[in-house]
Amino acid sequence: MPSSTRVLRVDAQQPDPAVIAQAAAVIRAGGLVAFPTETVYGLGANAWDAAAVARIFRAKSRPASDPLIVHIAELAQLPAVARDLPAVASRLCGHFFPGALTLVLRKSPRIPENLSAGLDTVALRMPDHAVARALIKAVGAPIAAPSANTFSRPSPTSAAHVLEDLAGKVDLLLDGGATRIGVESTILSLVDEPPRLLRPGGISLEAIRALLPNIQYAPQFAAEKDTVPAPGSLLKHYSPRARLLLFRGDDSAVYTAMRAEITRHSQVGLLLRQRDAEQFHDLDIQIESLGSNSQQAAERLFAALRALDKAGVAVILARTPEERGLGLALRDRLLRAAVGAVAEV
Ligand code: TXA
Ligand code: MG
Repeated sequence: MPSSTRVLRVDAQQPDPAVIAQAAAVIRAGGLVAFPTETVYGLGANAWDAAAVARIFRAKSRPASDPLIVHIAELAQLPAVARDLPAVASRLCGHFFPGALTLVLRKSPRIPENLSAGLDTVALRMPDHAVARALIKAVGAPIAAPSANTFSRPSPTSAAHVLEDLAGKVDLLLDGGATRIGVESTILSLVDEPPRLLRPGGISLEAIRALLPNIQYAPQFAAEKDTVPAPGSLLKHYSPRARLLLFRGDDSAVYTAMRAEITRHSQVGLLLRQRDAEQFHDLDIQIESLGSNSQQAAERLFAALRALDKAGVAVILARTPEERGLGLALRDRLLRAAVGAVAEV
């Protein structure tokens, strides 16, 4: 374990090659580098190096049963990572790579056992971020990277979030500013027939459905940590320390129910769209605004959850987002953060 984490600033559009070279040297030597992608920050190691991959699991306190995503910079790297690609894979890659789409494919024998948690599949994506791609190219190998947060905490959308969770546990942090999308990539399994959406994310289900009309999505949330039915389906995930309560219903019913709930607790925080937040400005409580559209909500969600934790609130009240576009990813993250607690009002 490194005793301190070095932080280097880097331009998100035109990263300094000298900075990238330093980070690549750390990864080639078996170290860990946190870096920005267009979704959230990743905690990267050389994907071919099982010992370095093991360090990722330790740094995050991540269970060995939860496999990592392999990040590539160009399609030429794909055959070393995955095999037996279905015909639809090249169409999806052509359309969505680079971008916030992760494909689950049959893994190549070269993938370390611990990276894929012993499964015969591997998750793969090509990030749409100049820093991430320059780093992968400079390393000369794919980079295994989960989100750079402690397991079950909200994903990091800034370098400060990475340090909150992982200071001293990662060798180097490339600070490229806030991430553009703010929620993680969409994960699509192509080893299932029909193909299955495993995690809604930065690319909408509607956009994928336009290419893959038979895609299936059945949200599944596991309640218990030790009965994991599928990787990544743990309900308690993206969690603030505070208890999160979700409200579903019409504006006026939700506002009334929230006001009643607020009186029941001493330290309540609100996590609301701007127009909802305006209804509560008469109250002396912490309000985090999710902005006025789902893009802004995605950008702000994880930072807002962390801010509410910092403010020390015991309970967070929020609304269930609509089930379209980025709303589906927001809904998934909030449901997990709420551990399923939804009040129908
Ligand atoms: O946007 C993102 O995807 C970010 C950035 C850093 O790329 N990464 C990310 O990684 O969110 P992580 O590890 O936090 O989430 C990856 C999810 C996990 O829930 C894991 O269970 C799932 O992908 N996963 C990985 N390999 C899988 C596989 N072979 N089959 C099914 N799910 C898999
Ligand atoms: Mg994660």
